Amino acid sequence: MLNSDAWTQLREQCEQCRLCELHEHRTQLVFGAGDVGARLMLIGEAPGEKEDLSGTPFIGRSGRQLDALLEEAGLDRSTVYIANTVKCRPPANRDPSPAELNACGVWLSRQIELLAPRVIVCLGKFAARRMIDPKFMISQQHGQWFTTSDGRDITAIYHPAALLRNPGRRPDTLADLKSVRARLLQPAP
Ligand code: URA
Repeated sequence: MLNSDAWTQLREQCEQCRLCELHEHRTQLVFGAGDVGARLMLIGEAPGEKEDLSGTPFIGRSGRQLDALLEEAGLDRSTVYIANTVKCRPPANRDPSPAELNACGVWLSRQIELLAPRVIVCLGKFAARRMIDPKFMISQQHGQWFTTSDGRDITAIYHPAALLRNPGRRPDTLADLKSVRARLLQPAP
């Protein structure tokens, strides 16, 4: 059960964050959204323009692609929690730098600790390299299962934006998400 006071405090602290320069460029912090009681947490890369304006992750084109994939795999966005590796939009959607990823990592780690999801799915290589292995190769290792240092099941799939550029990868991603669904249906260890 989520400690809602600790969650509220985390959000307030994150709103004040000045650990890297990304806060200077943002319109809104994109803390995360979804079911705080979810057993499944999705971790994307960084907010884009629409997310920066609204404060909600994955609501642009990538978000629509993500929603469609989840639905096709029998998962429902309203029952997952979605966050990003960095919570402020990098200018012109550039890649987040290693320093920015490290700085923002403190917020993500605390979110995971408080939400305590059973399963984590990294969306794309940035999240996978942050959460699983700095050398993670998404084209070779997507869909493989790993265990986090605190015992959670974790895997990575192609980023929804990569699927928009390369729809040929969609069947693999659907298969990966079906394996996520199967994992969630297994009894907790
Ligand atoms: N891409 C991401 O990685 N995260 C978002 O929130 C939106 C697009």
